[in-house]
Amino acid sequence: MSKPWSGRFSEETDEFVEEFTESISFDKELAPEDIKQNIAHVKTLFKAGVITEEERDKLIEGLESIRKELKEGKVSWKRELEDVHMNIEALLTKKLGKVGGKLHTGRSRNDQVTTDERLFLKKEIREILNLLKRLRVSLIKLAESSLDILLPAYTHLQRAQPIRLSHYFLAYREMFLKDSERFSDAYRRFDELTLGSGAVAGVDFPLDRFFTASELGFNKLTRNSMYATADRDFIAEFLFCCATAGMHLSRLSEDLILWASEEFNYVELPDKLCTGSSIMPQKKNPDVLELIRGKTGRLYGNLINLLTLLKALPMAYNRDLQEDKEPAFDSLRTLKGSLVGMIKVLEGLEVKPQSMRKNAGNFVLITDVANYLAQKGMPFREAHEVAGKIVAYLIEKGKRLEDMSLEEFKAFSELFDEGVLELLKPEKIADRRKTFGGTSKDEVLRIIETAKREEGI
Ligand code: ARG
Repeated sequence: MSKPWSGRFSEETDEFVEEFTESISFDKELAPEDIKQNIAHVKTLFKAGVITEEERDKLIEGLESIRKELKEGKVSWKRELEDVHMNIEALLTKKLGKVGGKLHTGRSRNDQVTTDERLFLKKEIREILNLLKRLRVSLIKLAESSLDILLPAYTHLQRAQPIRLSHYFLAYREMFLKDSERFSDAYRRFDELTLGSGAVAGVDFPLDRFFTASELGFNKLTRNSMYATADRDFIAEFLFCCATAGMHLSRLSEDLILWASEEFNYVELPDKLCTGSSIMPQKKNPDVLELIRGKTGRLYGNLINLLTLLKALPMAYNRDLQEDKEPAFDSLRTLKGSLVGMIKVLEGLEVKPQSMRKNAGNFVLITDVANYLAQKGMPFREAHEVAGKIVAYLIEKGKRLEDMSLEEFKAFSELFDEGVLELLKPEKIADRRKTFGGTSKDEVLRIIETAKREEGI
């Protein structure tokens, strides 16, 4: 089959080269955007007086019928035609004859491909934002139902201080909120029309780029044709956003995997999301969570892949840039899958309040014993020392903090009184953390209300 660029060539393309250089096997995913872009371009060509009204209508009609065939799965792609752009143009020419050849006037695949990609990523980001929101809503619901469940917060994976479980879920909600902000911010930045930049230097037909932008729903225009055709930072940013969201999902997965273990026994994962072992009958494996954690590697890899592709790439377009698509497609598929998986896990999560509470006492409460002395006037460093001695004493006695008598306390400091015995309950201690963003009940409730308002639920 002759190529759209065959004019200057006297030899057929080598079979291997055809296979090595094609992108249709993956960029066919951009076909809906390519058709959309073609239609806008045809309208712009008409507006510029480059094609007649009749030609415009014919071209649009032809493109609409390709769109329909695409939806019906009737389009067959040809590897010899390299990529989605040349395939669609060839389909159009086959339908319409010579006039199809007017489609590519005033355009290059270099500005065409990034227009498709920007349109495509805008659509995908909207989907990802929806999923992130659903995930946050699941976290807020869990926060609402777990207000009175106390557990130790961990630092260094050692029991640290008592918190309300709601506080934990809301922590992840904050992270996923920032992820949405990051995606929206990237979206705003790359919401620019590149079409009308030509191969590298701009276009010598009087194309009204503002018109094309409004036809395609772009907010702005790129301001430099070299930048427009050479830039893939917008994909790198997208991949960074995916990698960060994936990292958050991975951390949450890790917590839940630990919590579902017999050692923690804090949560029960829904059976339908776990798998068994072919050899050990007792096993209930948290595979969905493990794979969410594992797939984060791909998300990082795709980001590094693209950054490496861009490094030292001379201005402006180079064919290397064709390699930008697979990492982007892979990351968005991976992230969307992981988000759906995590939403399902959270919706089916069963919390075990007793096991959590069991671990929320004893030394988890000791920081507040030191604080208690500090509030009575002892310098905090000294109070810390006294509390440390109490820990050593209890370890030696094999006793829990809650079982200490007032006399025992008094032996460590005269500043202790009845109040210290009152203090030694996880909820009491959690509720003392009244600072903005702390784990006291009032503060957690306030944040739940704020979160619901922000999500519109
Ligand atoms: N398939 C190509 C890509 O994805 C389209 C642009 C081709 N441009 C060119 N000058 N060969 O980058």
